Amino acid sequence: EQGRIIDAQGRRLRNLRVSLTSACNYACVYCVADGKRLHADRKALSLSRLLLAVEYLKVANDLRTLRITGGEPLISPLFDGFMAELGRLGFADVSLTSNGQLLSRKLPVLLAAGVERINVSLDTLDAGALRRIARGGDLAEVLEGIERALAAGMRVKINMVPLRGHNHEQVLPMLEYCLARGMELRFIELMRMGHLARDPRTFQRQFFGMAEILATISERYAFASAPRALDATVQRFEIPGRGHFGVIANESAPFCSQCSRARLSSTGWLHGCLSSSRSHYLGDVLELPRDEALARIRELSARALADKQAERFSGDVMVMRVIGG
Ligand code: GTP
Ligand code: 5AD
Repeated sequence: EQGRIIDAQGRRLRNLRVSLTSACNYACVYCVADGKRLHADRKALSLSRLLLAVEYLKVANDLRTLRITGGEPLISPLFDGFMAELGRLGFADVSLTSNGQLLSRKLPVLLAAGVERINVSLDTLDAGALRRIARGGDLAEVLEGIERALAAGMRVKINMVPLRGHNHEQVLPMLEYCLARGMELRFIELMRMGHLARDPRTFQRQFFGMAEILATISERYAFASAPRALDATVQRFEIPGRGHFGVIANESAPFCSQCSRARLSSTGWLHGCLSSSRSHYLGDVLELPRDEALARIRELSARALADKQAERFSGDVMVMRVIGG
């Protein structure tokens, strides 16, 4: 137990989400207001510095799980190099969250790195609706990437944000599509971040929450609650004989009190909580001799942990779009 960093609620950091870039090849309506894609940050760390930051965070916190995010991680110039070096970091579990647009092309890199599971963000099976929601995006490319990942034996989960007026009628078609392929679909409740935090009327109009999602599904399927991991974001349900789906009920059933996640941005900032405006810069620390660096990273990890909300996130979830949830 020596050196364990634990907060007042007994939480510790077990799970790191690292953003390889703040840039994205989509500009989703729930992420950016104006349709302008996010760009890479000029202050992004180099590959070697980012790897060092991840390694120090792992050692300092005895992390188990790494999730690679963005922006869109597959468009990052660091992606191939990061994946090639991943093995020596020794995470028990590595996964990636992607919009899947480049999945076919990058699948060999993921497989070579030993990645066994990925989460693909896909909001609709209607090509026109995808172009309207993502302001870009080629549905056929995404579906092709998913098929190839499944054929290669990867476990694939699908993330869908149901929005009234954009894709809420896709709840059942998406579920059918995922059940038929053995993929777990997770419905993510719309979060009040960025422009949506400033525009409650749009948020209310578009919000299609857990109650409505479950009501829609119950029109066609019987389902029951499935066991939930302690620090999971997701509430899982089982459709007997068919498979599972989940709801990430950010708004209607927040899950902060068990949260074990930390985030590292591509620019070297450590965030303990999506809804905290506080973050801790690791960039300078990486230049120190190893022992000193590790001691500093322990301190900064404890501060990030202290930034976590007690029960639920609140306010403007500003940082999510640059650090990918
Ligand atoms: P696995 O359960 O390991 O598959 O990962 P995950 O669900 O954490 O990863 P993913 O990147 O697919 O995240 C799905 C969604 O969970 C994100 O889009 C966010 O909406 C939400 N999420 C992730 N972390 C947090 C968090 O700390 N707080 C809140 N409120 N939502 C989060
Ligand atoms: N509300 C809910 N989910 C969001 N995502 C991005 N912005 C929001 C938001 N405002 C989701 C993406 C992706 C995941 C990483 O975050 O759809 O699945």
